[in-house]
Amino acid sequence: MTEFTELLELRECCPHLVMVVGKGGVGKTTVAILIAIELSRRGKTLLLSLDPAKHIVKYLGLTREDLEEIEGGIHVRYVSIEREVSSITSRYADLVRELMPSLSVLNLDSVVDVIKYSPGVEEEVLLRKLKEALSSDFNYVVVDTPPTGVTLRTLILPRLYSIWLNKLIEIRERIVSLRYVIARTMKRNTDVRDRALLKLYEMRDDFKNIDSVLSSESRSSYVLVATPEPLPMYELRETYEFLKNKLSVKPKLLILNKVIPDELAAKLGVLAIQQNFLEELKSFGVSYAVIEHLGRPTENLSDIKALKEKIKVFK
Ligand SMILES: Nc1ncnc2c1ncn2[C@@H]1O[C@H](COP(=O)(O)OP(=O)(O)O)[C@@H](O)[C@H]1O
Ligand SMILES: [Mg+2]
Repeated sequence: MTEFTELLELRECCPHLVMVVGKGGVGKTTVAILIAIELSRRGKTLLLSLDPAKHIVKYLGLTREDLEEIEGGIHVRYVSIEREVSSITSRYADLVRELMPSLSVLNLDSVVDVIKYSPGVEEEVLLRKLKEALSSDFNYVVVDTPPTGVTLRTLILPRLYSIWLNKLIEIRERIVSLRYVIARTMKRNTDVRDRALLKLYEMRDDFKNIDSVLSSESRSSYVLVATPEPLPMYELRETYEFLKNKLSVKPKLLILNKVIPDELAAKLGVLAIQQNFLEELKSFGVSYAVIEHLGRPTENLSDIKALKEKIKVFK
């Protein structure tokens, strides 16, 4: 039987990122677990769940949120984005308190609230988690992603940051050179090294690096999952276009999950729509897989393993 991972062309690692993307409920977590099981036979594998739905906790019977090793040697980490956002914003508040004690007359808690609910904070936290995983010593990192919109915004964030950083660097370089000229004119010694500027350079390199990993087909593999229904297929199409146009990458694998056997689909009157979606999937010219509906929801790891018998992959 062809394995999923034979289709991913895992040419380069360390770590090689496998991003499982799709609409909520299509089976991202399930697929991420299946892929992680396969990969863990090839190398040290981290299954990183950033999906707020928390299904992974139930499927794998996790007892804690930090790193946990389950059978088969897979390392699993479930990250609660909500908790991470809270902890990061309160750290920022402490920093503000320390740097600007005069601000404590204001109600800092309300400042924290504003940051917490600001657009983009979730994406920032996700990006940090991806960065952390990328600097780990795992061979493979399989990411069970949050809702598609958040995921796509996170993927483009390093580029957005780079634009901002380039602008900030330009301004800071001007300040530093003017400071130098003034000091020279006044015959004073001045240090040309500027800590803020060095920090900005470092940040720019960092984001450039993560962007190059995310937009490299040899370092990252995108797996798009949908069910044979209009909305999940719509999101798959949108994600495909996004990856192509913004990151210049093609997904390695498209998966149609919860496919009903033809005979039953005909009885239910959904055979034609199911076949249409399957035809559409083929038309992308990318390897694809079909996973049959188990007939009941998958409740635990052994149900998920039972799904292996229901997978057909096509190169
Ligand atoms: N092939 C399948 N057959 C039956 N149930 C499935 C299948 N794939 C997923 N499920 C069920 O669908 C629901 C959503 O799956 P999940 O993997 O948590 O999706 P997501 O992570 O995309 O939200 C769960 O109840 C899961 O048990
Ligand atoms: Mg999930």
